[in-house]
Amino acid sequence: MSQSFGSYQDEIYGGGLRGIVPSYPMTYEGWEAGAQAALPPSVWSYVAGGAGNEHTQRANVAAFEGWGLVPRMFVGAARRDLSVELFGMRLPTPLFMAPVGVIGLCAQDGHGDLATARAAARTGVPMVASTLSVDPMEQVAAEFGQTPGFFQLYTPTDRELAESLVRRAESAGFKAIVVTLDTWVTGWRPRDLATSNFPQLRGHCLTNYTSDPVFRAQLARTPEEDPGAAILRWMQVFGNPLTWEDLPWLRSLTALPLIVKGICHPEDVRRAKDGGVDGIYCSNHGGRQANGGLPALDALPGVVEAAGDLPVLFDSGVRNGTDVVKAVALGATAVGIGRPYAHGLALGGTEGIVHVLRSILAEADLTMAVDGYPDLARLTPEALRRTR
Ligand SMILES: Cc1cc2nc3c(=O)[nH]c(=O)nc-3n(C[C@H](O)[C@H](O)[C@H](O)COP(=O)(O)O)c2cc1C
Repeated sequence: MSQSFGSYQDEIYGGGLRGIVPSYPMTYEGWEAGAQAALPPSVWSYVAGGAGNEHTQRANVAAFEGWGLVPRMFVGAARRDLSVELFGMRLPTPLFMAPVGVIGLCAQDGHGDLATARAAARTGVPMVASTLSVDPMEQVAAEFGQTPGFFQLYTPTDRELAESLVRRAESAGFKAIVVTLDTWVTGWRPRDLATSNFPQLRGHCLTNYTSDPVFRAQLARTPEEDPGAAILRWMQVFGNPLTWEDLPWLRSLTALPLIVKGICHPEDVRRAKDGGVDGIYCSNHGGRQANGGLPALDALPGVVEAAGDLPVLFDSGVRNGTDVVKAVALGATAVGIGRPYAHGLALGGTEGIVHVLRSILAEADLTMAVDGYPDLARLTPEALRRTR
């Protein structure tokens, strides 16, 4: 399965011969600036912001600059194979779209979950759909086309509701369940605090709850009749401070691959592995949850070592194609982006996301071409050197 992702640049230069320049910016900084201009300030600050003074968020990005790929010559990497095996599926590339709870609001038409799913269908880049969405998971999954999609679970305190969400995800055709562990309570986010803005409390992105039969049965009146009571109930069930005692129950919820998100310590990897998970997701939530922490990339090698034969998904701070290459070289099986595709969506809906994904993949592919790495197996820690 080798596709030339780098050919996106031929398309762009070819367009130039006909007087066409790209509709969207070519760098992360350009996507970010465009999104800021396109989004309402409240949505923008929710997407762009992080915990505390956002040191960890910046450190996530800077960590990639601490590594450099060593060029190899006379390799003749004329064709590159970026494909990966994940949970028995062959994916064209290691890239995926991380769950972004307000992605629905980042689209001009307010249906960003659907637009993202369509971008996944167009590119083969899987979407991890958040529990927090504008459109119900069944409608999101219906847009995936041939691309597999994963469902991210914020485990409710009510087990019956958790079970219902997972059952729905299975029926909708999601191919794995990603349980997020680092967000049972919201981190301290000064940007949002300064404007007293928390979208879910205003009733945004709660459709997976308000469309759920178990959730609805717990309300005296329907969410349509009494939205305030639905929000109140959501506040009661949202944050579940899970412990290791809960892992057997989580594991029992589904026969689908179970992935735990937010793992950064090797000991946690070992316990999760003993508890029967199918994948480890190394992430610090893009620096949104706890400030003053370790850049996620610095945690990756230890997580990979402890994971052994389990696949490791990674995100936090990935901004371009060379970052993807470096994360793979440090042992990630699959590499996620959050803000970059949210920005693409704000810029141009599905087209904007497709542009961001194709740009990142083209850069990864061309970096591998120039530096002589024809496939991901050749990208090992030995391919990297510390730059500082
Ligand atoms: C606006 C926003 C909302 C997010 N919502 C969720 C979510 O609902 N569930 C989840 O597991 N992670 C969520 N995340 C975290 C992402 O899945 C991912 O870990 C993070 O964005 C990666 O960092 P990056 O933005 O630097 O690429 C969110 C991130 C952002 C930026």
